[in-house]
Amino acid sequence: MTDLAIIGGSGFSKLEELEITRREVIHTPYGEPSAPVAHGVFKNKKVAFLPRHGTAHTIPPHKVNYRANIWALKHIGAKRIVAIAAVGGIGADMAPGVIAIPDQIIDYTYCRDHTYFEHDLSQVTHIDFTHPYSESLRQNLIAVAKKVGIPVVDNGIYGATQGPRLETAMEINRMERDGCTLVGMTGMPETSLARELELEYACCAVVANWAAGRGDGPITMKEIEAHIGRGMEQVITLIAALLGSLK
Ligand code: HPA
Repeated sequence: MTDLAIIGGSGFSKLEELEITRREVIHTPYGEPSAPVAHGVFKNKKVAFLPRHGTAHTIPPHKVNYRANIWALKHIGAKRIVAIAAVGGIGADMAPGVIAIPDQIIDYTYCRDHTYFEHDLSQVTHIDFTHPYSESLRQNLIAVAKKVGIPVVDNGIYGATQGPRLETAMEINRMERDGCTLVGMTGMPETSLARELELEYACCAVVANWAAGRGDGPITMKEIEAHIGRGMEQVITLIAALLGSLK
């Protein structure tokens, strides 16, 4: 039984701290996941790791097979997922370098395979998605962050955009009016698919840049990579603390 599944985002294609015991290639009814699932041990807990963008970071957000990824994690017996994601900051408290644990999401994506409920339509299924993230997993992350002294913003409204292009300044203004405080390209349909399969799912969002129109000048990959690098070290500490807290 896996204690925790981790989906790694940009800048997090490997979890060096994981002592990998085996890699499992999983073929799903929905196609191939982004990579084999790496099973291993971290902090004496059984951890499964899946890099969302592939082992060599070659799969852009709109091409990720979210259904296969989440199905694969369910298949290996995972009950909880922490998804790591690089995001842009919209809210004033979401400056580059901040780590946030979002509590809400707004979906602006399109043309993504976004549900498992499309074959047996004898019974149409509408999952409850009022609170899209697992509140217990979120609170657990927030509590361990406090314990190990990693500052996190304990909320966030994640606006999930289609990508791979970044947004226009006006799109970000609109998203802010909608209430978004973070913007990223991978939050949906990953979050709702996890709910469809009844998995506990929380997101650890690393703010890599000010969203379009909010910083000085254009957004550069260099800026994004620099902040991700620093943020990910903290995320690893956070995950280690989370694993330590799991019964
Ligand atoms: N927009 C969308 N996705 C992102 C951003 C952004 O500004 N930064 C990192 N991922």
